Amino acid sequence: MNHPLVQRFDGADAILATIETRTPDTRDHPAETRATIETYHPKRLKLVVADVVEETATTKTFRLEGHDRAELPPFLAGQYVNLFFGGTSRPYAISSSPARLDHYDLTVRRVPGGRISNSLLDAVRFGDVLTTTGPRGTFHHNPLFHGNDLVFLAGGSGVAPAMSMIREITDLGLNRTFHLVYGSRDAADVIFRDELDELAAIHPGVDVDHVIAEPDADWTGATGFLTADTISALLGELDGRMAYVCGPQALYPFALDQLTALGQPRKRIRFEANGAPHDPAAQPHWPAGADPADEVTVTVGATFFRTPRNRPLLDALEDNGIRPEAACRSGECSLCRVRIVKGQVHTAEEATLRLSDDRFGYTHSCVAYPITDVELNL
Ligand code: FES
Repeated sequence: MNHPLVQRFDGADAILATIETRTPDTRDHPAETRATIETYHPKRLKLVVADVVEETATTKTFRLEGHDRAELPPFLAGQYVNLFFGGTSRPYAISSSPARLDHYDLTVRRVPGGRISNSLLDAVRFGDVLTTTGPRGTFHHNPLFHGNDLVFLAGGSGVAPAMSMIREITDLGLNRTFHLVYGSRDAADVIFRDELDELAAIHPGVDVDHVIAEPDADWTGATGFLTADTISALLGELDGRMAYVCGPQALYPFALDQLTALGQPRKRIRFEANGAPHDPAAQPHWPAGADPADEVTVTVGATFFRTPRNRPLLDALEDNGIRPEAACRSGECSLCRVRIVKGQVHTAEEATLRLSDDRFGYTHSCVAYPITDVELNL
């Protein structure tokens, strides 16, 4: 500790003195340590549906309160919880303010053909108890790296994390500017429209522009898609402001093209993780000649089953009653990591693997697809 390098840091003496007199190692207090972790970073939360708000014809907000705790774990605006339902799970961004921890709001939009969104919207009622992970995710504002002048391109229910960021600014009166450009199919599809417009009107740092793809005759705002021309007309020069993007998968490559055309550096664009790719076979490294609809055999210990190549391994495992830990379902958090003992998988571009994963044959099952018969270790 007394290496000469240490002395080069401002305050080194004070830090060393603190280390000398620090409270004993957390390993000496396992019960207190567990209780602290459980308070702030619980693996699971039990939440009660305290209200259900019909936002649009296809979208509801579920207000969730703690089942056995009054104050929920803190989170950063933009983070999500993974909601367990019907033998699987889905991550949903928290749309409420991190300044109000007596509830989390989850805003769910009906996905045509989507098993979970449809079940949630049709079956969940006031008083139901739901299970989620604690808050997680890296799609949040970090003032140190992202600055305090932000823009957000949202599509559809991708407005949920933006709503949380705006509510935080207005609840706490933060000295931050935030310009939301929010694309919707038609005016009736706009989620949180009244509240967004109200907050923009009363808070000098918040601006909101709606862009409607299929406007009716009464619409007087911006129309079309979130093109470079529209972004530029509404936001002016981006000037290196941090740009957040959240919405349907198709928005991501489109928004990247538009922002790049406006000279926005890639490192000043942040995308929310957004599920497994709908068409993994369209990715350039999908093996030539491997028909995505063909079935292969997946073996886990003494269990084996058939599944199509284009079904993510995590979904295929859950279909067969095997439930690895999971949260983001987008290749980011690494909780669903499995080891490929035999066979070949296609790991989608979305996976953020570590070098050691590659080296020792691990992949993220939420974005990995079995190309041949495979054997897995969980
Ligand atoms: S669930 Fe997060 S990487 Fe798979």
